[in-house]
Amino acid sequence: MPTLELTMSHASPSLIGNNWAVRYAAAILATATMLLVRWALNPILGDYMPYILLCPAVAFSAWYCGIGPSLLSIVLAVAGAQYWIIPPIYSLQILSKAQAVGIVTFLCVSAALVAMGEAHRHARDELQKSHDELEMRMKERTGELEAVRGSLRKLTGHLLQLRDNEQRKLARELHDSVGQLLVAANINMWFVEAEAAKLSARAAAAISEAIILIQQTITGVRSASYLLHPPLLDDAGLTSALRAYADGVTSRTNLEIDLIFSPEDLGRFTHDLEITIFRVVQESLANIHRHSGSRVAKVSIERSLVDIRVEVHDRGSGMSQRLLSDIESGRTAGVGIGVMRERVRELGGTFKIDSNGDGTRVSVHLPMEPAQIVPLAS
Ligand SMILES: Nc1ncnc2c1ncn2[C@@H]1O[C@H](COP(=O)(O)OP(=O)(O)OP(=O)(O)O)[C@@H](O)[C@H]1O
Ligand SMILES: [Mg+2]
Repeated sequence: MPTLELTMSHASPSLIGNNWAVRYAAAILATATMLLVRWALNPILGDYMPYILLCPAVAFSAWYCGIGPSLLSIVLAVAGAQYWIIPPIYSLQILSKAQAVGIVTFLCVSAALVAMGEAHRHARDELQKSHDELEMRMKERTGELEAVRGSLRKLTGHLLQLRDNEQRKLARELHDSVGQLLVAANINMWFVEAEAAKLSARAAAAISEAIILIQQTITGVRSASYLLHPPLLDDAGLTSALRAYADGVTSRTNLEIDLIFSPEDLGRFTHDLEITIFRVVQESLANIHRHSGSRVAKVSIERSLVDIRVEVHDRGSGMSQRLLSDIESGRTAGVGIGVMRERVRELGGTFKIDSNGDGTRVSVHLPMEPAQIVPLAS
């Protein structure tokens, strides 16, 4: 039990402290007290075993006060016993051999006690030293760990930003290049279809089929581009992008989404803030659809001059405590919640999930500097 030992070793020196005056005073006080007790017992004990009660005083001094105070305690004990307890009273004279043997025995016992006290103190000092070293090393390691954690966080933030930029580029490429080329190809196909009468029946059917396939591809490319990066987010801001996104989710999944924005038009923020809020709502709605079994979802966003609060709430099956703590420690296979949390942390915000049998609530609080509010173009 190293922890207990360390705590105990810590307790002993703090009892008296390291101040030499206090240590001497404690030894004198302990010896004087025991002398007084022994003196009070004189009428009963007479000069029977005069040193027996003085041994604890020497032991106390040896244990807690150090070698100097212990020696002083021994001298005081011998002199006090000789003067007040051992006849002739009020004299230091040694009358018999028995008295001399008594003193020698007491000195031997005291020497043993002092030796034990010293050994104990030495062990305690060693323990204290290794405890201090351990604490210092632990502090160093904690500092290193914090530094690693900090750079990991920076790296994650940087990676998320890179991913956002890549997604945005890819979305634009898909929309502006592939999408436009497909539209052009479709128009050409319409011209060909208009002259289908000149073609064989098989060729005419193939053209119609090709037109349907091209249209399906255009829709696929559009929604892929939209999911990668909603163009409305850059052009019109959060309010419009989230409304359009929620409409899309409802039409694809039948999930009823209640959007409550306060104020009704949230206004514009820096790209970082807008993309973070958008991705939190996007991932939370995806999770509700995939995992909760809820038919309804409520998204509320409230902004003030200094912060933004986002809540996404469902009425589904909820998560168990175990799953919640697995998510907290990153032990789940999914990464959606972890990424949300990291995005929010990157902006200095807080991320919380409350879940029970009545559903799940994702709550995000993001502080906002005035510089993060983008004024609308007049
Ligand atoms: N609204 C919810 N209701 C019930 N369970 C949920 C809800 N949201 C998340 N979960 C549970 O939390 C787990 C972790 O979610 P997370 O979004 O991190 O990963 P995922 O959705 O499984 O995968 P992905 O990486 O694609 O997001 C999910 O697998 C699911 O079991
Ligand atoms: Mg998910």
